Amino acid sequence: MKILAIVSSPHPGGNSSDLVDIALEEAKKHGVEVEKEILIEKQIGWCLGHEECGSQPGCLHAPDDGTELAERLFSADGILLSSPVHMRSISAIMKNFMTRTRFKGIDNSLCARSVGLVAVASNSGIEETLDDLENYVTRRSSISPEKILKVGGRAKKPGDAKANPELVQKARQLGRKMAEELKRPS
Ligand SMILES: Cc1cc2nc3c(=O)[nH]c(=O)nc-3n(C[C@H](O)[C@H](O)[C@H](O)COP(=O)(O)O)c2cc1C
Repeated sequence: MKILAIVSSPHPGGNSSDLVDIALEEAKKHGVEVEKEILIEKQIGWCLGHEECGSQPGCLHAPDDGTELAERLFSADGILLSSPVHMRSISAIMKNFMTRTRFKGIDNSLCARSVGLVAVASNSGIEETLDDLENYVTRRSSISPEKILKVGGRAKKPGDAKANPELVQKARQLGRKMAEELKRPS
């Protein structure tokens, strides 16, 4: 059983990434494998909207990191999606990745039995960003809403999130609950 975490901040060691690390560490303690991918460090071209991505030869960018990561996302047992709040929404980096996971005419369903969502803002837009992440998941899976766990919080400068005991606690709890869900007999 494995959780795949996708970090979409332009700061690989930023606040949303720190909360993901905390959640994954806790999930690992509870017996599940974890993987973390940082989108800014990947080669993921912009969706070019050619609309024939479901037919051969497929996405114009294939085989870049976007297509490989999309396949891993579809098949992961657990997924943890994180974004900083940018303009009261998900980061453009996350939006592009989501766009690249849409292969027209192909089943793009998520297999995940457990889902975690993380959003961090300096002030506002947390709910909207969590909604963006949740909408992505619910359009692609039949997972029940109570299995979608969310952590949203405020943090301005890098390091602020992991210095906030309440947020750290919430991230730990999310990691533990995701692991427990994955270990539950299906
Ligand atoms: C382009 C951009 C847009 C942002 N938009 C918002 C916003 O709408 N609301 C807000 O409260 N913070 C906003 N922020 C602040 C970030 O959400 C905040 O600094 C967060 O801690 C960054 O997380 P990270 O370290 O994971 O990148 C914005 C930051 C950037 C760079």
